[in-house]
Amino acid sequence: MGPVQIKQLLQSAEIGQPVEIKAWVRTKRESKNAIFIALNDGSTIHNIQAVAEPGQFSDSIIRLITTGSCLKVTGILVESLGSGQSVEVKIQEIHIYGTADPEQYPLQPKKHSLEFLREIAHLRPRTNTFSAILRIRHALAFAVHKYYNDNGFFYLHTPIITASDAEGAGEMFRVTSLDMENPPRDESGQIDYKEDFFGRETNLTVSGQLEGELGALALSKIYTFGPTFRAENSNTTRHLAEFWMIEPEMAFFELEDNMNLAEDFVKYVIRYALEHCADDLDFLEKRQADEEKSKPQNDRSMPLSEKLRFVVDNPFERLTYTEAIDILVRSKPHKEKKFQYHVEWGVDLQSEHERYLVEKHFKKPVILTNYPRAIKSFYMKLDEDGKTVRAMDVLFPGIGEIIGGSQREDNYDKLLERVHEIGIEPENLWWYLETRKFGTAPHSGFGLGFERLVQFVTGMGNIRDVIPFPRYPKSAEF
Ligand code: 4AD
Ligand code: MG
Repeated sequence: MGPVQIKQLLQSAEIGQPVEIKAWVRTKRESKNAIFIALNDGSTIHNIQAVAEPGQFSDSIIRLITTGSCLKVTGILVESLGSGQSVEVKIQEIHIYGTADPEQYPLQPKKHSLEFLREIAHLRPRTNTFSAILRIRHALAFAVHKYYNDNGFFYLHTPIITASDAEGAGEMFRVTSLDMENPPRDESGQIDYKEDFFGRETNLTVSGQLEGELGALALSKIYTFGPTFRAENSNTTRHLAEFWMIEPEMAFFELEDNMNLAEDFVKYVIRYALEHCADDLDFLEKRQADEEKSKPQNDRSMPLSEKLRFVVDNPFERLTYTEAIDILVRSKPHKEKKFQYHVEWGVDLQSEHERYLVEKHFKKPVILTNYPRAIKSFYMKLDEDGKTVRAMDVLFPGIGEIIGGSQREDNYDKLLERVHEIGIEPENLWWYLETRKFGTAPHSGFGLGFERLVQFVTGMGNIRDVIPFPRYPKSAEF
């Protein structure tokens, strides 16, 4: 279907075969004996070289072939004498689809900073770095679906517009059909949301979990994979206002089963990328090594492929929040007051603490469990001691929290108490509470932040560089 892609061509090339390539020009180089055009159609990190003889085409045509222009090249596949490629195209015909004036086209063949590329998000997929990231992102998304499909899970589509705050953290983007400059008001002067499209206040979802639980309590094993939205301060290298989340939810799974699934799943998708994205990972590994050349040897990070192998080949460390606090309190950086944030039992861990545990103490991914109830969401199942909940966070090197999950509170009375405790109106969650009245069952689930996974696998420092069109404060150009 469609033209032969460069990836296919390089894999199954037959010398002498006629070819037609539709692609963008990466570079053009003219020598005395030939004109070399490097073409890339985004199917692979590799370019194919097309070669014309001097004088074969008029100067006015050759002049229009510049970096960024788009061509159809017809020719014959021949053995390449140059180093770096085994085949090349001997050009017979060229058709120019679109030119790219070098005076104006921002992506010239030189190194551009990631900050600059973020400003031209509409063009950055044409760079080697971003096309590699986007192909890896695709492979990881495909692996997610494959993993769950192969393991008996059903893909459940949960709503984007919802009336609930799944995390109870109040970080929602409002959705309204009302004219907010002149909204309808009730007798007391309050905005009357009964006039709104949905007849009540709605927002963009922060998580598909609550609806996911409804699915699990009918289909046993489901997963969601969709965009989620958080109106939190997302000016960090690990937060976006719009990110994709994968949320499996399983009936009859306790915390231990949940941890086993999370570890198996995340290792599977990383292994999948290692097996299917070798060329792109290789490119990003070299890129990273290049970037780090100026750093002293012991400050450089582990080569990308080695880091990924290390994660898939070793069991994650599992310990409770209480045990982790003990380690942090006794740790050297604490004594020397090297942590910016104070740490004691009851505090929410900051990413410096998480990263200390993972990168300095255990030197591998860590699963922390049984957090204090006060710092976790209302839906998590209370432990017997009443002080902690059956929560689990998976922490990764360089990233911190990559997965957050828990066993869910399945007891109606206890859940209702928690709902009251955090000040949610039970009427707003009647449908959620009802599942604990009718055929309740132990169940568990978690959420994997997809961009944090892509960030880990690609080794990119900033989460804004692993999603095609990042949403962060003041970013919505289009
Ligand atoms: O820990 P969180 O907030 O958990 C939930 O939303 C649960 N409902 C998940 C569940 O149990 N089904 O978010 C889960 C994960 C985090 O571990 C992190 O990887 C990612 O989502 N995440 C973000 N990623 C990018 N930008 C943000 N602003 C994020 N907030 C959370
Ligand atoms: Mg969390």
